[in-house]
Amino acid sequence: MNILGIESSCDETACAVVKDGREVLTNVVYTQIPLHQPYGGVVPEVASRAHIEKIHGVVRETMTEPVDAVAVTYGPGLASSLLVGLNAAKGLALSLGVPLFGVNHIEAHLHTPFLFDSPGPAQTDAPESLMPALGLAVSGGHTTWVDMPSYGEYKVIGQTLDDAAGEAFDKAAKLLGLGYPGGPVIDKWARGVPLTPDLPRFPKGAPRPGTAALAGLDAELCVSFSGLKTALLYFVQKNPPKDDAEKARIVAAYQEAIVGALADRTARALRRRTYRALVVGGGVSLNGRLRARLAETASAAGVPLLLAQPKYCGDNAAMIAGLAFWRRNVSGDAAFAIDVNPALQPGD
Ligand code: KG4
Ligand code: ZN
Repeated sequence: MNILGIESSCDETACAVVKDGREVLTNVVYTQIPLHQPYGGVVPEVASRAHIEKIHGVVRETMTEPVDAVAVTYGPGLASSLLVGLNAAKGLALSLGVPLFGVNHIEAHLHTPFLFDSPGPAQTDAPESLMPALGLAVSGGHTTWVDMPSYGEYKVIGQTLDDAAGEAFDKAAKLLGLGYPGGPVIDKWARGVPLTPDLPRFPKGAPRPGTAALAGLDAELCVSFSGLKTALLYFVQKNPPKDDAEKARIVAAYQEAIVGALADRTARALRRRTYRALVVGGGVSLNGRLRARLAETASAAGVPLLLAQPKYCGDNAAMIAGLAFWRRNVSGDAAFAIDVNPALQPGD
């Protein structure tokens, strides 16, 4: 079954065709990064206008295969950006006379390790055979741990209470004038800095137990990154870096705080119950230090670490088309009446 997926939740306009949920036949991603670079972050108005300009070209470029269904991200994300992809998907499904499926963007990030490029071979076993799994979706918009009891079933067990991990990287890079997006730049600057005890110290992102923001979740499986950003601001005001070497030491320590928080929460979750895999997706999973720490964490827990190919870590539509094969949050006639849901959570 060939499913065409459309993704427009943030600053990528993307379309892909995936066969039987895993084999990527075509994958087109138009990234708006250069448009947002001058602002040091995504500007919603700029994003939605760029989606409108690009979506039909991106879809046309992808449509080299006959498709049996159309899948689309309807949340979470920027409402005005989601609307562009959703309406394009409705029109396309109607004109082709094929079913439409609504897909959750965070759940889709957790499908990326299972994708492979046509004509194969697959790099992992079938997703069903690796459940129950612990999922970690970590990007510019989300930092969420989910329990995946069976494939297509999700329960949020932890998340950030404020900034996403990618946002914490982006804000730090902006503050230090390193450019946008901040994650890849900080990753590069931090590489090669020895992790000695005399590095600057930053808070480890542990939220206070009992705060309302936890919304019933366990503080030990949640993180809070807004204090980290403030700590960096104060640190730099007090100790302005004199040269690039000092800047590199600061960002390496800052990266260590984010990565340490993510690895620590993941290790705790892996101790809570027996899992058969650790599944990680999202733009921040490109981070070299995070990959190394998660590999140690997974190995200590005796589970395989499943990461996506780099091109499927950031936002793309192959993950939407792929996951729709298993999980159709909305389908049938209801899908044509679907509205965007900027605050959609995994499992909703
Ligand atoms: O998944 P993604 O493309 O979009 C969202 O759904 O948000 O993730 C983008 C985020 C940005 O915040 C970017 O700084 C971060 O992923 N990122 C990284 C790295 N590459 C991208 N963060 C840390 N290290 C990286 N190498
Ligand atoms: Zn994303």
